[in-house]
Amino acid sequence: MAILRNDADKTLTLLTKNTMYQMKVDDRGVLEHTYYGKKMEYMDMHYYVECIDGASFSPYPVNDKTDDRYSYNHISQELSTSGVGDFRISAIGLRNTDGSYGCEPRFVSAEIRDGKYSLNGLPAFYGDEAQTLVVTLKDTVYDIYFHLYYGVFEEYDLITRSVVVENKTNASIKLEKALSLTLDMPYGSYDMLYFHGRHTRERILERTRIKHARTTVASVRGASSHMHNPFVVIADKNANEDYGSAWGIALVYSGNFEITAEKNLQEKTRVVAGINTENFNYEVPAGESFTAPEVAMVYSANGFANMSNCFHKAIRNNLCRGKFKNAQRPVLINNWEGTYFDFNADKLVSMAHEAAKMGVELFVMDDGWFGKRDNDRCALGDWTPNEEKLQGTLKSLAERINAEGMKFGIWFEPECISPDSDLYRAHPDYALAMPNRTPQQSRHQYVIDMSRKEVRDNIYNQLAKVLSSANISYVKWDFNRHLTDVYSVELPAEKQGEVYHRYMLGVYELLERILTSFPNVLFESCSGGGGRFDCGMLYYMPQVWTSDNSDAIDRLKIQYGTSFAYPVSTMGAHVSVCPNHQNARITPLKTRGNVAYFGTYGLELDVTKMTDDEKAEIARQIVEFKKHYELIQRGDYYRLISPYPEEESLFCAWEVVKPDGSEALACAVRYESDACTAPEFLKLKGLCENKWYTVNDSKEKYLGSALMNAGIKIPYNFFTYPSTLFHIKEA
Ligand code: GLA
Repeated sequence: MAILRNDADKTLTLLTKNTMYQMKVDDRGVLEHTYYGKKMEYMDMHYYVECIDGASFSPYPVNDKTDDRYSYNHISQELSTSGVGDFRISAIGLRNTDGSYGCEPRFVSAEIRDGKYSLNGLPAFYGDEAQTLVVTLKDTVYDIYFHLYYGVFEEYDLITRSVVVENKTNASIKLEKALSLTLDMPYGSYDMLYFHGRHTRERILERTRIKHARTTVASVRGASSHMHNPFVVIADKNANEDYGSAWGIALVYSGNFEITAEKNLQEKTRVVAGINTENFNYEVPAGESFTAPEVAMVYSANGFANMSNCFHKAIRNNLCRGKFKNAQRPVLINNWEGTYFDFNADKLVSMAHEAAKMGVELFVMDDGWFGKRDNDRCALGDWTPNEEKLQGTLKSLAERINAEGMKFGIWFEPECISPDSDLYRAHPDYALAMPNRTPQQSRHQYVIDMSRKEVRDNIYNQLAKVLSSANISYVKWDFNRHLTDVYSVELPAEKQGEVYHRYMLGVYELLERILTSFPNVLFESCSGGGGRFDCGMLYYMPQVWTSDNSDAIDRLKIQYGTSFAYPVSTMGAHVSVCPNHQNARITPLKTRGNVAYFGTYGLELDVTKMTDDEKAEIARQIVEFKKHYELIQRGDYYRLISPYPEEESLFCAWEVVKPDGSEALACAVRYESDACTAPEFLKLKGLCENKWYTVNDSKEKYLGSALMNAGIKIPYNFFTYPSTLFHIKEA
């Protein structure tokens, strides 16, 4: 039983394999949050969150239980609201029909259901093995209901949550704030780990102490963005990979978001997460509901590695969908860095020809195949193959690629439109633009108003026509700018605060339609690299192009940060040319391969320009990668040495291990050089202490505990950026 209801204590307890989450209806009917941490025998944990005395400057509700020590401002709550006495960060800001701003949700009912709830039109974790708890609260004054949905995945220690606000009054209400999560943390001192960045430098880890000021990560770009990821870890101040409490919080959403934490006057920390409040104002008409996106949480009592592995498994098995979620994905070559816009069919076929000989299985034609697109200034929206450039039809090109023994894939950027396009000339209103104001351009393009069905239908029909016209096995779905001038011609003035969210709902609807129509196509999400790497997109597309930066050394930090939430199977990673196109760095081809192995592994360079030795090395890499495919994609993941200097190591290292500990693959990359270095040993994880192992088929055998406690020596190669792969096998 994953969900316990104790009517005597009025508690509701969610139980996973190792964690427990509890809420309690207090004697005023308020749903208090009492505990989220390590699993224990059942007890009513209310003592843990009881308020201290001295509620000065904290208002108290006046009713038959009036007590000036009881304040919404002190109690730990499941759903924090604004306007009626809780001055901490709120999740819900509600403007009633009469203009008043406030609500007081009180318990009505709780229902336990088998299976996981789903959310209409929004991505969400799924699974029959999960259980659902629906707690319904109602405002003390108006017929406004708050349905809190909890999904419990016992095996992965994953708890999800969403909020549905239902308006049963006979007039519209306005949600000015509708965040999905309130998490009141127990007493203590916590850090927030978050993943910031920019284009070509995504998900860089920073760690900060949560103090008595708000710490927020957020996006107002209409996409989750390169700048902040909708995932944070709240952790004990001394937690590390293997030690201490860590609460991972991931939003299953790809648009504007905010995650905020603050320590408050009772020295408790409150965390809220959900849709960003900036330019959010949602009307809920009488009889209708608003659904806030899902939040997924994992608590780990023993550090970050365990937390990451729970997310990895849950994302792989219960978020990604479709036939490719667990299938072996093809090794691909993408022509973007090899040719940019400068190609024709003969060039692509010559690349495919060489790549096929090395063992590459899928050829992806990137940007530039449609309309008049020979640069990034035109043609987005005109999804008609350029038959001059393709030297025939798309079908004929796909056939030529297939004849080389390769599958064929294609690039789209369905959410954008170039001012210089036939689509824009015919329908300028398809672009987001404000009345009387010239909209901003970014990469010479506008964003399409995906909140409109007519617009989505147009794009769907164009995409479906292309995908039906040829043997296409793969789509890269790109999005290369952020939203500005967010205004929809179809909505009245008072509903313009809904457009950001309606845009996202529209994108999700379009994706669902395309995926349903083309279930055999593998989709990879992209947004100028990893600008929309989030659980929302992973529900539709099981892999994401991690970054436009393919330099193996920069990728150490990017893939390291990404791995805190997202599994290796979701991280697009390619071997590209040197000097690297993003930072001019020169790294050994072997190191580029070793880093790309811990992703989807593919190529992104002009293979026709490679030397025979380089081609042989790629052929070797493909064999090696495929040999370890299962282990890499489904093994438990450990970050061994971080890529940051605090480690006082010259290396960054990580490892994947079979869950039974019988086999592991570790990689160490040296990103610094030093003269006369001392030997460094790599301490492995996840092995069986008393079993014997070989390392890279060595004659010598090592005890698991020796490899984990003493480590294996990392060879020091006398050149820049060397790397070593360690294959550890039970002897
Ligand atoms: C984005 C992508 C690249 C490539 C280009 C094409 O930047 O991240 O991989 O597809 O667009 O314009």
